[in-house]
Amino acid sequence: MVWFVLGGFAMRLPKAGTIEIAPSILSADFGRLANEIGEVASAGVRIIHLDVMDGHFVPNLTIGVPVVASLRRHSDLAFDCHLMISEPDRYAEAFAKAGADHVTFHIEVSDEPEKLIERLHGLGCTAGICLNPETPVEEIEAIAPLCDMVLVMTVHPGFGAQKFIAEAAKKVIRVRDIVGADVRVEVDGGIGPETAQMVVSYGADTLVAGNAVFGKSDRVEAINAIRAAAR
Ligand code: DX5
Ligand code: ZN
Repeated sequence: MVWFVLGGFAMRLPKAGTIEIAPSILSADFGRLANEIGEVASAGVRIIHLDVMDGHFVPNLTIGVPVVASLRRHSDLAFDCHLMISEPDRYAEAFAKAGADHVTFHIEVSDEPEKLIERLHGLGCTAGICLNPETPVEEIEAIAPLCDMVLVMTVHPGFGAQKFIAEAAKKVIRVRDIVGADVRVEVDGGIGPETAQMVVSYGADTLVAGNAVFGKSDRVEAINAIRAAAR
């Protein structure tokens, strides 16, 4: 793991080159989030995926800045905040200040993505761009190399436990081609032991899994099953 210290924050997204499973708390028990995160940490994961939804960009509401700040006091995993919100340019920095290590925002709604990446980097936070299943890779072609991680949605954002969209996953091949080996490529939606191998073969190295981890009673076993399939 590489630690960069910038502006008083530690950025802890593991350096590209390893396969990482990033459990998504969306399918966890929100009444005991800190414990749920502790449980997946015991399986040796290094990233936890926090889904932020505003009921506008997506038809669902989840957590906001205060929850991220509270969880920060309970975990030293890398916080990977996935902002599914209409105004990332307005709110992203607040998540960085609350303790996010990495902030991903959607290309479909950012007015000045390049500037936002710069602002996040200025706060010592890594930055990522995300594209929805229907968004062509060309939309992020210029911006992707400036990112620390690119997120390819493999479901329509908003809910956990949806069906994996194989066509969308194929975009990972092109994204990997654009960013080279030093930027992480993350996939999100419908990832589990059945789909892990396919997305890794396309070039993904960061696998978000919600239902496939928190939908199982034994989270450690569930994570190991995805790891084994990804190998
Ligand atoms: C969906 C979220 C995902 C979600 C994935 O909009 O961005 O992170 O938790 O859930 P699964 O892994 O259950 O498809
Ligand atoms: Zn997500």
